[in-house]
Amino acid sequence: MKKFYLTTPIYYVNGAPHIGHAYTSIAADVLARWRRLDGFAVFFLTGTDEHGQKVEKAAAEAGLDTQTFTDLVADDFRAMAAAMGVSNDDFIRTTEARHKRACVALWERLVANGAIYLGHYEGWYAVRDEAFYGEDELVKKPDGTRLAPTGAPVEWVREPSYFFRLSAWQEKLLAFYDQNPDFIAPVARRNEVLSFVRGGLADLSVSRTSFTWGIPVPNDPAHVMYVWLDALTNYITAAGFPDEADPRWPFWPADLHIVGKEIVRFHAVYWPAMLMAAGIAPPKRIYSHGWWTVEGEKMSKSLGNVIDPRQLVAEFGLDPLRYFLLREVPFGNDGDFSRRALINRLNGELANDLGNLAQRTLALIARNCDGRRPAIGERLPVDAALLAAASALPGVLGERLARLAFHEALEEVWKIVRAANAYIDHQAPWALRKTDPARMAVVLRVLADALRVIATVLQPFMPGSMARLLDQLAMPASARDLAALAEDLPEGVDLPAPSGIFPRFVAPVG
Ligand code: MSP
Repeated sequence: MKKFYLTTPIYYVNGAPHIGHAYTSIAADVLARWRRLDGFAVFFLTGTDEHGQKVEKAAAEAGLDTQTFTDLVADDFRAMAAAMGVSNDDFIRTTEARHKRACVALWERLVANGAIYLGHYEGWYAVRDEAFYGEDELVKKPDGTRLAPTGAPVEWVREPSYFFRLSAWQEKLLAFYDQNPDFIAPVARRNEVLSFVRGGLADLSVSRTSFTWGIPVPNDPAHVMYVWLDALTNYITAAGFPDEADPRWPFWPADLHIVGKEIVRFHAVYWPAMLMAAGIAPPKRIYSHGWWTVEGEKMSKSLGNVIDPRQLVAEFGLDPLRYFLLREVPFGNDGDFSRRALINRLNGELANDLGNLAQRTLALIARNCDGRRPAIGERLPVDAALLAAASALPGVLGERLARLAFHEALEEVWKIVRAANAYIDHQAPWALRKTDPARMAVVLRVLADALRVIATVLQPFMPGSMARLLDQLAMPASARDLAALAEDLPEGVDLPAPSGIFPRFVAPVG
């Protein structure tokens, strides 16, 4: 069977989930659902990143013991995933025993291969980014203080540390990127990584001694593992590492790690180097998306504009939110979240274009065809043209989604939705009822068949509403995948009474 392993980043549990986290997870979910629809065995992983100084600090600020705090926030991330309709097959927490075992095993392999040595770290560290920075990377402010390139405060760290021999990997990584031109996408991110690696790689500090909230280094418990080494390992932990007899191990290497643009370096440089140093195959692809601002401003606790995606679901519904996030902005670019833009898409594209098409077609079948699916009958070229364009959608979307071009995939579907609306206007089946009822039935069947394809391919984006639409088209649960589209549907089947799928959003008065 065709396999597909994809992951979201694991989320830091230093604060509550927000729209940025929901975005990464929803995008990954659409791909997971698409692959399942296309007959793949999918392993879709998400979870939480719970160690390190940043989380330890957040727990202390909340006045809670660290484990209790991480339990609470991890539960909230789990609930957020469920509320976003995320169909993950596993949820990993880095505080789980299976993960500690995998980290220890990876560490031991790196030591056995001579890739880790004990030394002394002296340099800058940003807790907010959980990252080390070179002096040359920092931004010096007029008052003399230094900031990380991300704007995070940095502190001077001086402590014994284990190092990963990253410097030995420069040439091998460049050769690897060369042989795997699609390893990092989009291309702007690939170029950033290439120039970073070409600039030379220093060995990476991979343990800390100044706090304890982490996985102890084997045989040297004064050190805990660097949180990024710990976190990246989650992707192999969940595949059963180090137990290669685990039923999930064949899913490794992962087909796709989806990550935000600020964490590409960890995934595209450190991670493949560590894996190759341990004799494990690197992942196949890293795809980086952009960042959302909110009504034109950066999201931040201090501005008080952090959006809980669950509030948006309560107000607009889950599927309109999922649709908006993937339609509004090309994946890979930055974008701005605004209520106005969401409402426009919901009322225009969902309620008007698709909702009305479904409602008009289904209401006419209910009224004029005894509520039964009409026969195919004799089709004219205009009918065949619409259906041919609709039938091409699975192939077209497959190509767009392989490039993570979600917005293009949706635009392709809307071309067919608009064509079907033009078709219904021209054919005017309501007028044919008296003049040519046989032709009316053919037209309504063409529309029902076009809607079937549209609803089938949109399931990954809007699973709840498309399930309702497929119910109204009397599609058996076993015939909702891409392969089933090859079969014609039987005529004469009773369709349930139609009901609207996308209510228009009307702003509450007062
Ligand atoms: N714990 C690390 C990842 C470890 S993966 C081995 C981490 N966590 S995070 O919680 O800070 O971020 C997780 C994801 O959320 C990242 O992909 C990040 O890009 C995404 N987002 C956080 N804020 C965002 C926006 N405002 N907009 C879009 N996505 C953003 O990094």
